[in-house]
Amino acid sequence: MSNFYENDDLVDQYLLFHYGTGDDQLPFPFGPRDALFYPVRCVSEFLPEIGIVERALDLGCAVGRSTFELSRWAREVVGIDLSHHFVAAANQVRTTGRIEIRRVEEGEIVTRLTRELPPELSRERCRFEVGDATNLGPEIGRFDLVLAANLIDRVKSPRDLLKSFSALVHPGGHLILSSPYTWLEAFTPKPDWLGGKYEPSGESASTLDRIRSAFRGYFDLKLTKELQFLIREHARKFQWSVAQASLWQRQK
Ligand SMILES: C[S@@+](CC[C@H](N)C(=O)[O-])C[C@H]1O[C@@H](n2cnc3c(N)ncnc32)[C@H](O)[C@@H]1O
Repeated sequence: MSNFYENDDLVDQYLLFHYGTGDDQLPFPFGPRDALFYPVRCVSEFLPEIGIVERALDLGCAVGRSTFELSRWAREVVGIDLSHHFVAAANQVRTTGRIEIRRVEEGEIVTRLTRELPPELSRERCRFEVGDATNLGPEIGRFDLVLAANLIDRVKSPRDLLKSFSALVHPGGHLILSSPYTWLEAFTPKPDWLGGKYEPSGESASTLDRIRSAFRGYFDLKLTKELQFLIREHARKFQWSVAQASLWQRQK
């Protein structure tokens, strides 16, 4: 299928998800406030365990918030996404430090918001590129840390993505995977789903078990966390999800 993420409405939905304030996203006195700021928490929940690094990579970076968050911890950060629309929006934030968001209220009624990237995040040390995470050339180099948030269940070949990590992460380096494992044939042909498949033999393995066996001999599982997140579709409709995040260390 054509890339689902080459879409201006989704760019606006993700700009709000990545850069909106809590009240921008959830203007009710009730609701899952702890699910806000997922692109920030994908970094802040793990980097204190890892510490300062030289090079970091955000794969499937979308409009770039986690990439900028990684600049708190890494000297150089690269964000890669398949969507030209998303990378153009991330580059706009990098160039201007400003985020222009069209927030959908109802139907075709929108509110225009302007937000600023927090000034302590480095725009100079981040760059964004269009690329396929499952087919990156060797010129990208190796990283001390790779983050892939909500990507594994959105690529055509999750196994190719898993294979690519051993070339991308330095021995001793870290990998953060986070995903709600929403397996859909619109993104991944069913034979390639890692989990979520009915096995007539009754031997269905979880996605985490499948990742662990694909990583045997390459990455050790350090810890897992449940990371909830909230994406606003319009003023009265939200997607609330719980990702399973896992921290892996490349064997030396
Ligand atoms: C569900 S979004 C998650 C984005 C972001 N990491 C977040 O957590 O908000 C999935 C992203 O992966 C990107 N993507 C899908 N397939 C990709 C691929 N093969 N290589 C790089 N990016 C890809 C999409 O364009 C989209 O931006």
